[in-house]
Amino acid sequence: SGFLAASGSSAPVSSAAPVAGGKLTVLYGTESGNSEVLADRAVKAAKKRGFQAVMKNMSEVSPADLAKSPNLFVIVSTWGDGEPPETAVGFYKEFMSADLKLANVKFSVCALGDTAYEKFCQIGKDVDARLEALGAARVFARQDCDVDYEDSFATWLEGSLSSLAPAAAEPVSFVAAVAAPAVEYGKKNPFPAETIENLVLNGEGSSKETIHIEFSLAGSGLSYEPGDALAVVPVNAPDVVRGVLQAAKLTGNEEIEVKNVGTKLLADALREDFDITALSRAVLTKLAEAADSATLRALLAEDSKEQLKEYNYGREIVDALVDFAPHGLSAAALTGIFRKLPPRLYSIASSPLAHENEVHLTVAAVRYDSNGRSRKGVCSTYLADLVKSGDTVPMFIQPNKNFRLPADGSTPVIMVGPGTGVAPFRSFIEHRAALGSSGKNWLFFGDQHYTYDFLYQLEWQEYLKDGVLTRLDVAFSRDQPEKVYVQDRMVQQAAELYEWLEQGAHFYVCGDANRMAHDVHEALISVVEFQAGISREAAEAYVENLKKTKRYQRDVY
Ligand code: 2AM
Repeated sequence: SGFLAASGSSAPVSSAAPVAGGKLTVLYGTESGNSEVLADRAVKAAKKRGFQAVMKNMSEVSPADLAKSPNLFVIVSTWGDGEPPETAVGFYKEFMSADLKLANVKFSVCALGDTAYEKFCQIGKDVDARLEALGAARVFARQDCDVDYEDSFATWLEGSLSSLAPAAAEPVSFVAAVAAPAVEYGKKNPFPAETIENLVLNGEGSSKETIHIEFSLAGSGLSYEPGDALAVVPVNAPDVVRGVLQAAKLTGNEEIEVKNVGTKLLADALREDFDITALSRAVLTKLAEAADSATLRALLAEDSKEQLKEYNYGREIVDALVDFAPHGLSAAALTGIFRKLPPRLYSIASSPLAHENEVHLTVAAVRYDSNGRSRKGVCSTYLADLVKSGDTVPMFIQPNKNFRLPADGSTPVIMVGPGTGVAPFRSFIEHRAALGSSGKNWLFFGDQHYTYDFLYQLEWQEYLKDGVLTRLDVAFSRDQPEKVYVQDRMVQQAAELYEWLEQGAHFYVCGDANRMAHDVHEALISVVEFQAGISREAAEAYVENLKKTKRYQRDVY
């Protein structure tokens, strides 16, 4: 198997001697690409230490292959409510129930996640426990990383590599710098992009507020492909900052020290550096100490999980400050409970071929009321309310290799993207138009009302006229008494949809992960079942095979 990191040699690996030149497999499971980037870094670091290291995607290995790897690093992320990355679902399910003997395997796990979710790093925890249960030897403790994973990852990598092979006393070679390197923009150094345009796509009377926003990438050196995401670094809104200051009984003029940034006024730090809204067990645990709250400690107890979940629902950090720190906090104690403000990812809505040096987004502004306060999504309302033409917004590209147009331009493409899920398909269609690809393009779009919510309507109509868009099927859910959704349109067009699939079409879904993506998946299975006249099980296998062969790709959130 291609997974085999070990050579055919059966020479036992001594546990005492450093395994300089030992084989190491870095197995990763990735959704947005972070685990893949880190796996690549781990491989490079391991090679420097004398390992013959290779990286493998969970999507392309089978659990049985693990037994052949004497040294195994696993880097895997967790999504939403404790889900594995889309491309790792098959591996994860199989591995968790596989009956394997891994007594000859040494391993270490790095888990990526987001402390804003209750099942933080769950998949990494599961894989770590399962490896141990199957007899593998953990050489370094599992590292659970929050969104800001750089430091934790570095600690884990160094610790894990050293546990396998103590650092060799190699002479350090110095390479003289010929010239100062040009500024490189990326995650560690986001590019301040100028805003070209910012407009609301919905018509007057809509209950939605979806914006189309364009940025200039000129001079950034940043490039992207259709399917990639844009990471945006937001700031917190002034009223949200005021609310937190008020709850903590502080003015904002206090001076504080921000790690890796320096001394700042508290109000500025709350605006720019910290996640001051997302409530989580991690934040509440720190608050319980800072405010010395017995009530909060009780809420965090093992047997109060349901109560905690109920408390967190519809609440933000400001509510917890009011409830558990009634006498306020010092500036240092307050900032001590926050994590770093994480960037937000948006599927890119433009093709670099259609808009040179530009990147476009389609963003739904999130606003709602809960627990007696009005709330707003940090980044979506930053873009909607605070960013005007000419303003700069810090950003970087987050590649997504799991969401790509077919390499062959003649392959037909079916795209299902209701609401802001349509974003990457604008990119896809623009790209194929610019390339002059001959393949057919079919878009399923849905939203609440035809009159207000038909995002990019004029563009689709042009593409239909030009023949770039072969078919457009729309589902406006609230224009009639009964709901009509994109999956209903799929079922109505079952014969043609199946025909396209049989012609080799690629099938893409983008948008809501909770319900829509699941319902569309079910619709796809039933389309195959009834059109092919096969059993439900056979239809599931057909769809599973589409996934395996990368002809069924999803970008859901
Ligand atoms: P609704 O809000 O009227 O229920 C984009 O948000 C569109 O997706 C809206 O028309 C919304 O309909 C629709 N939608 C909601 N739930 C859905 C589901 N389970 N499957 C497909 N579309 C859905």
